[in-house]
Amino acid sequence: MSPELCIRQIEYGSAEWEAEVQLRLTVLRQPLGLTFTLEELALETDTLHIGAFAADTLIGCLLLTPQTQTICKMRQVAVAAKYRGRGIGRALVQHAEVAAKQNGYTEIVLHARETAVAFYLALKYLPEGEPFTEVTLPHLAMRRKLSQKADILGSPNQF
Ligand SMILES: CC(C)(COP(=O)(O)OP(=O)(O)OC[C@H]1O[C@@H](n2cnc3c(N)ncnc32)[C@H](O)[C@@H]1OP(=O)(O)O)[C@@H](O)C(=O)NCCC(=O)NCCS
Repeated sequence: MSPELCIRQIEYGSAEWEAEVQLRLTVLRQPLGLTFTLEELALETDTLHIGAFAADTLIGCLLLTPQTQTICKMRQVAVAAKYRGRGIGRALVQHAEVAAKQNGYTEIVLHARETAVAFYLALKYLPEGEPFTEVTLPHLAMRRKLSQKADILGSPNQF
């Protein structure tokens, strides 16, 4: 992992958030010929946005969206192509798990693209159920119960 890597919360609507939406478009949507609607993005105000920065350039991101009082959903996990395979995705997920616990969540669920299932397995997410199609691609539901061991990561995020 680059020593300059910094993982931190992104404020919804900020310039960093605009970079996040662009990264999500580039990595997750444009290769499928898809985009985001303004309505979709407007639903993300209750969501925790987390970014990985290298010297202030956004190179990775993910979202945590509340599902119930104790379960949140990890979404839109993306690392810029030239930075993959260096532990940035793992660092983002681990940061998100600490933030989720600090906000009272005991479990994270997600819909993994088939091509990303091995990534989540490496991070101890368990598959469940049958594959299904989402945004034109085969996906698998996965989840991880968060350990109740205390983690130290600054003050709690609000989302
Ligand atoms: C999936 C993605 C976020 C992984 O990010 P990354 O920074 O390359 O992942 P890391 O380097 O942190 O890898 C963490 C672990 O997962 C494993 N891993 C990552 N991608 C993998 C893959 N495609 N297949 C198998 N294992 C993989 C790594 O080997 C590593 O395991 P290790 O630490 O035991 O060696 C990145 O490849 C990406 O953005 N892909 C395109 C978008 C996407 O598919 N997002 C997920 C949507 S559900």
